[in-house]
Amino acid sequence: MPIFLINFKLYEETLGEAGKKIAEHAKIISARLGVEVIVAPSSPDLRLISGVLPAIAQHIDAVEPGAHTGFVTAESVKAAGAIGTLISHSERKLSFEEIGKCIARARKNGLMSICCAGSPEAAAEIASLGPDYVLIEPPELIGSANSISKTKPDVIARTVDLVKSSNPRVGVICGAGVSTGEDSRIAMGLGAIGVAAASAVAKSKNPEKVIEDIAHGLV
Ligand code: G3P
Repeated sequence: MPIFLINFKLYEETLGEAGKKIAEHAKIISARLGVEVIVAPSSPDLRLISGVLPAIAQHIDAVEPGAHTGFVTAESVKAAGAIGTLISHSERKLSFEEIGKCIARARKNGLMSICCAGSPEAAAEIASLGPDYVLIEPPELIGSANSISKTKPDVIARTVDLVKSSNPRVGVICGAGVSTGEDSRIAMGLGAIGVAAASAVAKSKNPEKVIEDIAHGLV
């Protein structure tokens, strides 16, 4: 099934009950269209959202359980219902070494890992660490009206190629500015196995419509 990752980020429109409503609509669309919709809510909302749809954490720290304060462990997000985690999102960047540790911590806890990269070359390097997926997002297009699919399709194609040579078991998801079915159709045509979107959903007056449109383009 194609993947549609909705990153709630920390948009106020997606917090708590408002996010739950969006997730409930997304669940209906997911079942109807046969698209795997996954939501990345803020950590405090993981338990709430994971009761509706598969949810992943936006971040984990590369620390073991124990005497640490203010960190997020793989164990804690798993206990809150997460099935996976984003690692090194462009808005929460980690060093290459930390990325490797977080992938290992996620794997140890049976969590799916989606590692973010800002360029095809970085995506290939990260793929060699063995995450489940890499999420390619040119930072300058994140939150913009210019989608990766329409503005930089070459980045998607090159990422798919380089990741395949680096580690063929790793699937490529793409994001940044994705807001329409056309964006997701283009991405799938270039070899991505799914897309990620945030602002187009969070900032819409009609998030269900946006989710439905993007999901349609995936099938
Ligand atoms: O993780 C997905 C996100 O960074 C994309 O953001 O607002 O460009 O859809 P946006």
